[in-house]
Amino acid sequence: MFLKWKVVVFYILMTVMDGEANRPNIVFIIADDMGWDDVSFHGSDQIQTPNIDLLAYSGVALERYYSHCVCTPSRAALLTGKFAYVTGMQGYPLTNGEDRALPTIEKILPQYLKEHGYATHLVGKWHVGLSRVEYLPTSRGFDSHFGHRGGYIDYYEYDLLETWNIGDVSGYDLFRNLSFARDVEGYITDVYNEEAKSVIKSHDISKPLFLMVAHNAPHSGNEQAPLQAPREVVRELRHIELPQRRYYAAMVKKLDDSVGDIVKALLEKGILENTIIIFISDNGGITSQAFANYASNWPLRGLKSSPFEGGVRVNGLVWSKNLTQSQHLWKGYMHVVDWLPTLSKAIDIDPPTNIDGIDLWDSIVSNEASKRDVIVEIDDYTGFAYIISGDYKLVTGEVLANYCTYQGNKHKGIAGSGPSYKSSIEKSAVYSVLSRIGVPFLYSDTNLRNEIKISCDVDTSKDLCYPGNGTVCLYNIKEDPCESTDLSTSKPDIVDKLTSRLQLEFKRVIPRTVPHESNLNALPSLHNYTWDVWRSSDGETIPITK
Ligand SMILES: *[C@@H]1O[C@H](CO)[C@@H](O)[C@H](O)[C@H]1NC(C)=O
Ligand SMILES: *[C@@H]1O[C@H](CO)[C@@H](O)[C@H](O)[C@H]1NC(C)=O
Ligand SMILES: *[C@@H]1O[C@H](CO)[C@@H](O)[C@H](O)[C@H]1NC(C)=O
Ligand SMILES: *[C@@H]1O[C@H](CO)[C@@H](O)[C@H](O)[C@H]1NC(C)=O
Repeated sequence: MFLKWKVVVFYILMTVMDGEANRPNIVFIIADDMGWDDVSFHGSDQIQTPNIDLLAYSGVALERYYSHCVCTPSRAALLTGKFAYVTGMQGYPLTNGEDRALPTIEKILPQYLKEHGYATHLVGKWHVGLSRVEYLPTSRGFDSHFGHRGGYIDYYEYDLLETWNIGDVSGYDLFRNLSFARDVEGYITDVYNEEAKSVIKSHDISKPLFLMVAHNAPHSGNEQAPLQAPREVVRELRHIELPQRRYYAAMVKKLDDSVGDIVKALLEKGILENTIIIFISDNGGITSQAFANYASNWPLRGLKSSPFEGGVRVNGLVWSKNLTQSQHLWKGYMHVVDWLPTLSKAIDIDPPTNIDGIDLWDSIVSNEASKRDVIVEIDDYTGFAYIISGDYKLVTGEVLANYCTYQGNKHKGIAGSGPSYKSSIEKSAVYSVLSRIGVPFLYSDTNLRNEIKISCDVDTSKDLCYPGNGTVCLYNIKEDPCESTDLSTSKPDIVDKLTSRLQLEFKRVIPRTVPHESNLNALPSLHNYTWDVWRSSDGETIPITK
């Protein structure tokens, strides 16, 4: 009797485990501060991203994919499936001296996946809390983390410099799990690329894999050396007129090469055909102002940190062998909060119910209308908000005007004729991978490129609506994606409707508690010049040397 039970339990276990083992792998790649016009599948002839483009052409390009307008809120929303303002993570990103984090009561994406048997790895940026061990990725569902914990690092030195009221403060921020990674050498995009490939190579395929690759690129480095790329790559891109843009393009090229390498590594491991690949930007590009990286969101209006489209309507695509027969352009609304339930559906697990995210998997796969109608951002720290519902978008509150203009058109210059797009596609790693898995790419498929390209007659001299002092701006975001014609006076009924909908969201806001306050205990000089953890869970300062 006892033995029989054991046999039954064994078979049940085997069946359960078998189910887990066959779940699709997920490789989630995030670019940092990359603009709308910085991928060639959106139409740029200047910066060519053949590997990323081919994933869009043979997967699904997400035409109306939105994120929060800066890093920390976007990443918090991705991990929790909740808008950042309901977890207190909205507004200006975390600085390295803050004792603030995504609340540990929140259950996050890698934790859900781990429960379903996934091996979970983070390579690259974290940026949702670094002052305490319990805030770190390895305490929150990731089996391993190799990367930076704060907003960005120098591409070769891996340090981050902040200006505090006591002066400049700098420290290293590159860690392997809980220890500073002292032995590392090289350009950070290559370093992360090699690490991602090694995670794939050594992955035990009896489990499904969740690998998040959150690149430093193409975020700017420290103020003294914001644009950094290997000189031979910069040299290859000499068709780009503006030197700063050329450096930026080289940073993007290294990122695109890494996407190609990762796809190739998945093929070589034999798991590509059971893998879902996502590529997104965390927010719009930052053409000018603080942390400028010379990205371009053209012709969208606004930069990172702005509620206008350039800050929030960002690059996004999803690829899987199963999607290669689908319609390759999906026009429905999607927000970064939707990945958690959407991926849950894709891998056949029950999505959590108490979140803002909506499962959009079937809509994307079958090219149906989106189930998402409302997109909201509230930044009570800077003091603005926007809401999109249906065809309309309302922007209210106080914005930083310099972040809300059209920029990037002056950066588009190409000297001579520029390189051939066709040949860059044909030389790319993803091109050869696609033919090896029987999904050959036909060059005529670049029609998608024209279809997704946003063309506006942007008149940069025209008076634009800026919200503030009681003024609100209203746009028909479908007809006027570049937000040039304010409709707030001609459509007061829509203003009222969106305002009352937004009021409901304001009631949900958890206020930002500690607006970038730097604690002297975080000083890297107290931690062997690293930005290591400095506070224990009971709030005590952690003594030096680790
Ligand atoms: C991090 O820790 C995990 C689990 O202990 C281990 O398997 C992995 O090798 C470590 N990663 C690194 C980069 O040291
Ligand atoms: C592709 O579809 C099959 C059949 O529905 C499913 O079993 C498999 O998990 C899917 N693969 C991916 C990567 O989504
Ligand atoms: C709001 O009013 C203040 C004071 O009059 C002015 O300085 C500011 O430029 C105004 N802001 C906008 C967006 O009009
Ligand atoms: C501090 O860093 C140096 C090298 O930068 C290293 O040799 C030393 O072991 C570190 N000290 C501690 C206590 O970790």
